Amino acid sequence: MKIRIPATSANLGPGFDSCGIAVSQYLHIEVLENTKEWKILHSLGTDIPTDETNLLIQTALKLAPELSPKVLKMTSDIPLARGLGSSSSVIVGGIELANRLGNLNLSQKDKLQIATEIEGHPDNVAPAIYGDFVVASYIDGEVHSVKHHFPMCDVIAYIPDVQLLTAESRSVLPSSIPYKEAVQASSIANVMIAAILNGNLPLAGIMMEKDRWHEPYRKKLVPHLDEIRALGHKIGAYGAFLSGAGPTVLILSPEEKTDQMVQELEKLPLSATINVLSVDKEGI
Ligand code: HSE
Repeated sequence: MKIRIPATSANLGPGFDSCGIAVSQYLHIEVLENTKEWKILHSLGTDIPTDETNLLIQTALKLAPELSPKVLKMTSDIPLARGLGSSSSVIVGGIELANRLGNLNLSQKDKLQIATEIEGHPDNVAPAIYGDFVVASYIDGEVHSVKHHFPMCDVIAYIPDVQLLTAESRSVLPSSIPYKEAVQASSIANVMIAAILNGNLPLAGIMMEKDRWHEPYRKKLVPHLDEIRALGHKIGAYGAFLSGAGPTVLILSPEEKTDQMVQELEKLPLSATINVLSVDKEGI
């Protein structure tokens, strides 16, 4: 049995803790054989446990404690702690593993509810499950979500060679913001979502760069964001935003502008990996 979970980019700028897209990098899980103790074969680094303390198995056992131990193979090209939903992919993978091995018959909505309760917000786990673009709200303990087609474009991921933990990136956020600012921040997110639904990426891109919820506070942790945006404006990208909690920046680009954008990004002094991705339409 094989399970494939896409990477995700949360927020899209102003859709903080609510909007996300799935992108074409993946966590692959393969169930190999029965054994006496859980074991994960991977080459993702010594920090990632290979026994049942791994988040994947912990999540699966929380849902289906009676599962008998297996040898699993795990491969992933989703970088850790870069804002591309690596931990969400593991949580969703664990839920799907329990669902299939334990015949739990979970609906996609059930999976989203469980994953959100574990993660605390739905913006990564929702697109990992459904694919494409998902807007979700976790309110009064229940997740409500809408999946919609994301307009065609290239998704350039500028992934700095440094990790930024979500907890650190959330620690710089204020505990409240003034009412007037919240109204503005909400209007920006509303127009961004409406523009995406209309297939209007130029307008969505403008709104993506006007977030008031989190990027102004996180900028000190990701000083490269403004420079990348300036390059995007020069070349004609739709817009650039911090992917999730960062430090990765995603640039949405018309296909014909992508090569030039990548060439310019390569000239930046920061050590980084640049991947040209697309929006994953399938989820798990
Ligand atoms: N919405 C979350 C954040 C995504 O920006 O902190 C990262 O987990």
